[in-house]
Amino acid sequence: MRTPGYLEAKKAAAYLCAHWPVRPRIAITLGSGLEGVVRGLRQRRSVPYRLIPHFPRPTVEGHGGVLHAGLWRGVPVAMLAGRVHLYEGYAPAEAIFPVRALALAGVEVFVFTCAAGGIAPRAQPGAFMVLSDHLNLQGANPLVGLHEARWGERFVAMSDAYDARLRRLTLRAARALGQRCFEGVYAAVLGPNYETPAEIRALRRLGAEAVGMSTVPEVIAARQLGRRVLALATITNRAAGLSRAPLTHEEVLSVGKAAAWNLKRLLDVILPKAGDKDIPSSG
Ligand code: HPA
Repeated sequence: MRTPGYLEAKKAAAYLCAHWPVRPRIAITLGSGLEGVVRGLRQRRSVPYRLIPHFPRPTVEGHGGVLHAGLWRGVPVAMLAGRVHLYEGYAPAEAIFPVRALALAGVEVFVFTCAAGGIAPRAQPGAFMVLSDHLNLQGANPLVGLHEARWGERFVAMSDAYDARLRRLTLRAARALGQRCFEGVYAAVLGPNYETPAEIRALRRLGAEAVGMSTVPEVIAARQLGRRVLALATITNRAAGLSRAPLTHEEVLSVGKAAAWNLKRLLDVILPKAGDKDIPSSG
């Protein structure tokens, strides 16, 4: 099957631009359980993904599939409530289609949130991890295939994938709010099963501090487009073998929901500054 390309993304972008009163420069993808955050968006306009040309539709509980746009403390923002994952059977180029469409519609800064299992000792449920780097262990990459030069380079540098200023801003904001937040390396696996304890021991040796099943394809696509990226994982559980309780999706959703309030407060601080090119490095 042919995956959606440049023309399809242009069409989706044109649809969105026609629906938006103002064009957001910042887009936020909400991970599992975090969708309650959209209630903080004023003058909200909401479009189900099924009405947006070529948008993929999530099939997982907790991932609604509605694109919201509105004002967050006066800043125009787009919020993607629901993402599709590779484990749903989507091709990587389909999974990252919303990123490309939003970039064509004028988005310059992408904030990706996700749920993750904690591997490092400080990665305890309820804490946030600001991604400083990742391990792509999904066995897939959205840039595979014929090269489309309009998206950017074929061989994309990933050494500074996660914007240093946005990371600093987030860590500082979390500290000021008294929230548990640390920086670390995220391992992206395909899923959908949770890992085995042996896999978690291996990931720890590889340098992973948290593990999840999303985000990395979107980060790669956004970086090919030269957009700035902040990624924030909610630690919803200790990874397999690190606690006695067996892992469940319900647990991931309920800890995610509890974290939504903290994420809202973080965004109050981050979003008004995220569009600035120059965030001061101290203070
Ligand atoms: N493993 C993978 N993905 C996850 C986890 C996990 O433990 N928790 C939330 N998403």
